[in-house]
Amino acid sequence: MAHSENTDSESVNDGALVDRLHRPLRDLRVSVTDRCNFRCVYCMPKSVFSKDYKFLPRKDLLSFEEITRVVETAARFGVTKIRLTGGEPLIRNDLEQLIEWIANVDGIRDISLTTNATLLTKKRAESLRAAGLQRLNVSLDAIDDETFKRVNDVGVGVQDVLDGIENASLAGFESIKVNMVVKKGLNDHSIVPMAKFFHGTNQILRFIEFMDVGSTNAWDLSHVVTSQQIADRIQAELPIKPIEANYKGEVAKRWQYVDGGGEIGIITSVSEPFCGDCSRARLSATGSIYTCLFASSGYDLRPVLRNQGDAALQKEFRRIWSQREDRYSETRTQFSVIRPKVEMSFIGG
Ligand code: GTP
Ligand code: 5AD
Ligand code: SF4
Ligand code: SF4
Repeated sequence: MAHSENTDSESVNDGALVDRLHRPLRDLRVSVTDRCNFRCVYCMPKSVFSKDYKFLPRKDLLSFEEITRVVETAARFGVTKIRLTGGEPLIRNDLEQLIEWIANVDGIRDISLTTNATLLTKKRAESLRAAGLQRLNVSLDAIDDETFKRVNDVGVGVQDVLDGIENASLAGFESIKVNMVVKKGLNDHSIVPMAKFFHGTNQILRFIEFMDVGSTNAWDLSHVVTSQQIADRIQAELPIKPIEANYKGEVAKRWQYVDGGGEIGIITSVSEPFCGDCSRARLSATGSIYTCLFASSGYDLRPVLRNQGDAALQKEFRRIWSQREDRYSETRTQFSVIRPKVEMSFIGG
């Protein structure tokens, strides 16, 4: 593949930075905890994430001051979007403080959160919104209790999540999307019922192809229902037509109900990878930058964060992004699933 001889392939624009495949840095996904109150069978199976599982000790997590410093540095290099993830990010009680600080960083225009919504009380939704959180993406993998409980494996029913969505809706978020990971044989019978449920509401339902993230979810291509199959199943009951992306690099392909019932999205990570436009970096709760969701390891920023000044942090960021050449989803068949990969619950999807 053609890339410049120069490892520091950033453009001449002040601060602008591109990687070896000429992709800018636009999004930073920040994991604030590796813990979750669910044990989704495809993400944190109980066989691995048992009572004895050693989650990160609190002292190993970045402080909110440190996270904000990373966000400030990322913003200097072109990041405008911040997504907070986990595990389950709402497990961090004082998340509102972090959101306020991030909202005040120059250049940050969009702050969103990915959550399972079970901790989203009316009060919490209001305080998150007041702190400056703009958008929410809620994970919900089925609309009947039996299937949903089988997925989350902790006995939480659908209504708890719907209550969280309702609370968020009343708190006035700019958008609420619902993410459904589709795994064949587990919840694919819920595709059409989920579409029918969210048809005509303000929530945009997005179907996610089951991915080979991490090393604990026993992924197999035969578990994937492709985006085409998902679209076909919906099309058969509720006619849809494709529509334009909102912005370059949007992960979901958009579709609209022809009857005016709103839109849906399908995230085609497996069948139609979108690495060419990938402008996302991920920050783990322990302060490592991952330049791909499927990376085996990250770049630990803690030594710089804790012992050096802003100039050193900027230099490190520039070094990490300018040498990036990840495009795992486009090359997954070459690098079999045996290579160790970071867990989704650790890096937040
Ligand atoms: P917005 O479009 O900003 O609302 O957010 P998003 O779709 O990037 O965020 P969300 O956390 O809802 O992502 C949904 C899912 O898309 C994730 O859980 C992943 O499964 C998948 N996804 C997001 N980013 C990437 C990526 O960079 N690579 C791959 N392969 N999948 C991704
Ligand atoms: N494939 C696709 N999406 C996944 N998620 C977790 N594990 C997987 C997987 N193997 C999704 C969650 C949530 C987001 C953070 O990541 O359902 O929507
Ligand atoms: Fe489920 Fe999300 Fe928790 Fe993983 S992080 S176990 S997908 S709720
Ligand atoms: Fe980006 Fe890696 Fe996902 Fe490709 S597989 S879109 S490079 S995070």
